[in-house]
Amino acid sequence: MCGIVGTTGMINGVDIVLEGLTRLEYRGYDSAGLSVRNPDGSLQVHRREGKIEHLKNLIEQKKPVSSVVIGHTRWATHGVVNEQNAHPHGNDLFSIVHNGIIENAYEIKQELMNEGIVFQSDTDSEVFLQLLTLYFKQTQNIVKSIAKSFERVKGNSAFVIMSKMDEHLYAIKHGAPLVCGESAQGQLYVSSDPYALTGLTQNLIFPENSVIAHLNSDEQKISFYELNSKLSKRYKVEDKLDHQDVVSKGEFEHFMLKEIHEQPLLVQQFCHRWTEPEKRVIEQSSDLPHLFIFGCGTAWHAGLSIKNFIEKKTELRCSVELASEFRYRQPKLRKNDIAIFISQSGETADTLASAQLCREEGIQTLSIVNVKGSTLYRTCDQNYLIQAGPEIGVASTKAFTMQVLTGYWLSENLIQNKSLKSGIKPVEVLAQRIQELLGRSQEIQKIAEEVYSKKSFIFTGRGDYFPIALEGALKLKEIAYVHAEGYAAGELKHGPIALIDSEVVNIAIIAPELMDKTLSNAVEVKSRKGVIFTVGDEKQAVQMKEFSDYFLGLNFEGLAELAPLYVNVALQIFSYYVAKIKGTDIDKPRNLAKSVTVE
Ligand code: F6R
Repeated sequence: MCGIVGTTGMINGVDIVLEGLTRLEYRGYDSAGLSVRNPDGSLQVHRREGKIEHLKNLIEQKKPVSSVVIGHTRWATHGVVNEQNAHPHGNDLFSIVHNGIIENAYEIKQELMNEGIVFQSDTDSEVFLQLLTLYFKQTQNIVKSIAKSFERVKGNSAFVIMSKMDEHLYAIKHGAPLVCGESAQGQLYVSSDPYALTGLTQNLIFPENSVIAHLNSDEQKISFYELNSKLSKRYKVEDKLDHQDVVSKGEFEHFMLKEIHEQPLLVQQFCHRWTEPEKRVIEQSSDLPHLFIFGCGTAWHAGLSIKNFIEKKTELRCSVELASEFRYRQPKLRKNDIAIFISQSGETADTLASAQLCREEGIQTLSIVNVKGSTLYRTCDQNYLIQAGPEIGVASTKAFTMQVLTGYWLSENLIQNKSLKSGIKPVEVLAQRIQELLGRSQEIQKIAEEVYSKKSFIFTGRGDYFPIALEGALKLKEIAYVHAEGYAAGELKHGPIALIDSEVVNIAIIAPELMDKTLSNAVEVKSRKGVIFTVGDEKQAVQMKEFSDYFLGLNFEGLAELAPLYVNVALQIFSYYVAKIKGTDIDKPRNLAKSVTVE
């Protein structure tokens, strides 16, 4: 989280940085700021609490001009959301921006304060600025001072540094994303995200951990140094992203709505890509590996759906792990086990840490990931790109669908097996069915208008629909700021049923499978005056309408085990309209960020 953009070269970089920050605003929008360097070397910081729009208004008034600029959009970790804690942090000598967390900030801060250093903010980031300033006063050498400061701080971080001494930029990272790039004209760039550099650079250069990138505008090139100041070769160069990857909302009011509507086409394109691999990940053998699937939030829900496919279609044993928990248990991994990491961004800190752990254990690692070139993509032995295109809405929609579909394909092609295969046909049906469902958005909107003001929403499902109940609840709570929970339908009577009254809506997913049992669970809620919104099989409409306050009839025919994805789209639309009626910030819900790069 937090977005960083910097540039140095021949041209005024202010607009470039503002445009880059705008692209990265989904990473955090608590505050935004930028620093410029005046021709006399003095550094000027412009910052505003809130969204980039506020910073843009300030820049419009002040009209700073500079060929060297760094900018930041913040998702607050240490220090409340205000202007004082906004980045960049600076003094006469340096201005810095930071993404990540300095875990030992408190102790370093105490040490520096004991030496009489006065802090201007409550952030951990300022600790790096103060260390840098201190070491520069001792060494008069920027690269050495960065190295010394960096060696002191613990945790996953990326820093970009501007100085009074030259028009260059410096950057360094550990465990947080950082990318540099050069344009054909010699303009140099650095960012926390390749997306900010789209269309600007002819290449993307990814420095490895603890490598100092030196963006030297005099020589119009970027050099890399180890912490001992020796030239480094520890970086990877990749192709630039294309222009068309920069996206707009088009005709839609929100990115989330646009992304929901992109799903039929994406699913259809998935059909065209469907081929059988020449070689399977697992050669049939007597000693089958255990699969560990990792993810966070929505990606974890995708993992739960994928586990169901794998268990149905293969003989493999499989568990789904919350990436943020796994490392703190005592997991028993064996050499031939396989770890699958699911992530839209490929930058989620907890997922990356689990991937690192698995690599250290010598386990084969695969990713199901959206962003090509992301840290996860570069970490894993094998990658399956979900090809959902850029997802800008903070609440994940199309990425979930494509993650699950990719897992569906993988479950059929991971291992040479004789078990159940459903193949491509249900995928084709899914594309059509989602398209039809989008045409019924108004029907769903009407239900949202009826129930939006209720105090609580409990989503229930069984079997393959349990992950969808979890995902439906997550979507509603994150964009509509309303209490929502996902429950396995059969678990309600073990506690949550105590919550039920006329202010609670039960969104009951009642699919043809396990229908009788799931239906009884909904009736139990109705008997306690709960409001029932059933999303169920249209063939059973008469029976379901008897106990439902609202009913959305769906056609499950021909979808086989992909039907949960179809139901999920109905829940995405529902959440979208509840949030719209409530007037929340749908694409950038409060307190959230698109890439969670802190643990
Ligand atoms: C919810 C959502 C989050 C992400 C989670 C993991 O709508 O988007 O729960 O799924 O933060 O992010 P990625 O997939 O980027 O690893």
